[in-house]
Amino acid sequence: MRVQLTINGASREADVEPRLLLVHLIRENLLLTGTHIGCDTTSCGACTVLLDGRPVKSCTVFAVQASGRTVSTVEGLEQNGVLHAVQEGFTKEHGLQCGFCTPGMMMTSVALLERNAAPTELQIRQAISGNLCRCTGYVNIVKAIQHASATMREAKAEKEPATAGRA
Ligand code: FES
Ligand code: FES
Repeated sequence: MRVQLTINGASREADVEPRLLLVHLIRENLLLTGTHIGCDTTSCGACTVLLDGRPVKSCTVFAVQASGRTVSTVEGLEQNGVLHAVQEGFTKEHGLQCGFCTPGMMMTSVALLERNAAPTELQIRQAISGNLCRCTGYVNIVKAIQHASATMREAKAEKEPATAGRA
């Protein structure tokens, strides 16, 4: 079957078996190996990508289901040599050790911060509850997301200076 999708802003096409999983399309056909496979059973979240802006476990989506839609992977976070605030947060707060869970963890974080710019610690922990990390104990991952949240809010405030009180 023919699949056409927009991935990290680029239009891509492929002929695939109907049973091909999205994660295999991404890694093996499109050679975007930043998306990891940790379990293949919808348990670990290492394969998380954004499908039309929403986090999905790409080992649980058929490639054909993504046809005509927009997919974002970890490779699309950095823009023109500038890290995404979430990538910067994970770097600054040491939010990774082996890094295996990190691409999926970051994509989940991006989606969270898109819908909730200032999540509480509980909301962060709930958002990443489908992403398992065997190394860090999650403390620094939470700090990394809080760091990203603060950075993104500061950047937004600089772009949109407060108008309150102005005539
Ligand atoms: S590889 Fe998809 S959830 Fe583990
Ligand atoms: S950093 Fe190793 S699994 Fe999360």
